[in-house]
Amino acid sequence: MTGTVRILQLSDTHFLDDGIEAEGGGAYNTSEAFDAVFDHVGNHDHLDMVVVTGDVADHGSAAEYRKAADAFSRFQVPVNVCPGNHDFDAAFNAGMARIGVSTSRVIEVGAWAFLFVDSSAGTMLGQENGLHIDPPGQTRLHSNGSLGAREAAWIHQMCQTTNAEHVFVWLHHPPQPTIPMCRDDAYAAEWHDILDAHAKIRGFGGGHTHIPIDYELMDRPVFVSPSLKNNFSMEPQTWLPPGYRTYEFGTDGSVNSEVQLVDDERWPRLPFGSLLSSLFQGEITFAELSEIIARRSNVTGA
Ligand SMILES: [Fe+2]
Repeated sequence: MTGTVRILQLSDTHFLDDGIEAEGGGAYNTSEAFDAVFDHVGNHDHLDMVVVTGDVADHGSAAEYRKAADAFSRFQVPVNVCPGNHDFDAAFNAGMARIGVSTSRVIEVGAWAFLFVDSSAGTMLGQENGLHIDPPGQTRLHSNGSLGAREAAWIHQMCQTTNAEHVFVWLHHPPQPTIPMCRDDAYAAEWHDILDAHAKIRGFGGGHTHIPIDYELMDRPVFVSPSLKNNFSMEPQTWLPPGYRTYEFGTDGSVNSEVQLVDDERWPRLPFGSLLSSLFQGEITFAELSEIIARRSNVTGA
């Protein structure tokens, strides 16, 4: 293939099993949001691929991955998926195994090599039998980005080995995000080292924050996709409807991307309050926010 590569990115689809409460609350009906996004995309003929950057399932259950795989299978083009902090490794890999839906780690298209990074790899535990598994309990679910030595070494190896002229990284946790709540100096430092070593990395496509935005890190663009679970704008401070991103990758190494939001009366752009603002600014933790909400509902009897 030659010429411009066109990709559609979904992220943070957070599919939920029927009758199960979303983790953290405040969630849209993500199946309904997927249907709205799918209709909004329209014809797939112009697309080379669909990419999904993690938090595919809200609780990482097999039933949620079945829903997700059924939904992704509706695209007429290949769909490739990398995991987020909500995606437990074994369930994710088994659940995404379908014809047309895959979890490939590298895909070359034209002048581009696309790397699909597990930005939670640094939280995994090595076993005596050689497997690496998720840590027990909710550790992965509540973790920031962490590559760890193994994933970082793999990224170096791929950048050195690929024949492609340009490399683009798909991952869940964007490196050095602008939202104070999600900042993590150790994770940012891992990416600084990699970017220092590989000029052919042209940019990143991620999710995680549920705040669609783009910014630059060491002269590379970082594009953050909307989520299907809930979305927020920081200026003005409002909720946003669900959405996705479109990308055009040029043969010259250029990347253009646009946020697409599915405006609809089901998802009005209402202002959000000071509590959510404090969370995003890193002034309170997610656990503290949940405690405050629980206390208030006890007082009001809601
Ligand atoms: Fe998410």
